[in-house]
Amino acid sequence: MRAIAIDGPAGAGKSTIARRTAAELGFIYVDTGALYRTIGYAVDHFGLSTKKEEDIIKALQKIHVELRFINGEQRVFLNGEDVSDYIRTPEVSMFASEVSAVPKVREFLFDLQQEIARNNDVIMDGRDIGTVVLPNADLKIFLTATAEDRAKRRYQQLLESGTIVDFDQLLEEIKQRDYNDSHRKIAPLRQAEDALLVDTTGNTLAESIDLLQRIIRNRL
Ligand code: C5P
Repeated sequence: MRAIAIDGPAGAGKSTIARRTAAELGFIYVDTGALYRTIGYAVDHFGLSTKKEEDIIKALQKIHVELRFINGEQRVFLNGEDVSDYIRTPEVSMFASEVSAVPKVREFLFDLQQEIARNNDVIMDGRDIGTVVLPNADLKIFLTATAEDRAKRRYQQLLESGTIVDFDQLLEEIKQRDYNDSHRKIAPLRQAEDALLVDTTGNTLAESIDLLQRIIRNRL
């Protein structure tokens, strides 16, 4: 099985680029952020706090998460229910960032991620794929852009899906998540030593996709 790990901060275009590239290569695209979002969503849904470690650990005992690939498209199931459409809000983004700092949460999701890569050719995106989940990936890419550029893209994506948010607040949330994700003790966001750094600041989405696809074709 072959594996491409794509890590980087929120809104760098990882998911759009990885999804399209996976479809072209015939690989499965695995969005690991959806797993952390689902845990964050579940903790809140159970009336518990994503800011309290003991609440999160309590919630884990009642959570079963599963990824299913329907026509090549990833859907995430929480206790048998497809929650894929409920986990994309800025609120759930913050919950995800909070629960993801808890070691028990990362442990809980570790085997699931590895098992998918054992059984499929994958492009997996996240924060710690190249460093922790798939350290032996065939190709590792660290995809980044300035926070302003990433906030603009997220704003546009949310707008297209019918969600209107305040731009400055979105930018603040992105900066806050960058800080949380790169300063947590366990599996912080960082570039793996053997990962290729790709900065997409100023690129259009089409240019970034094209760039990534060329890199992958040349290196895989
Ligand atoms: O990628 P996405 O923005 O959907 O991820 C949501 C949150 O989940 C991130 O801000 C991060 O805190 C967490 N995450 C993580 N490790 C991953 C993927 C996501 O900690 N591999």
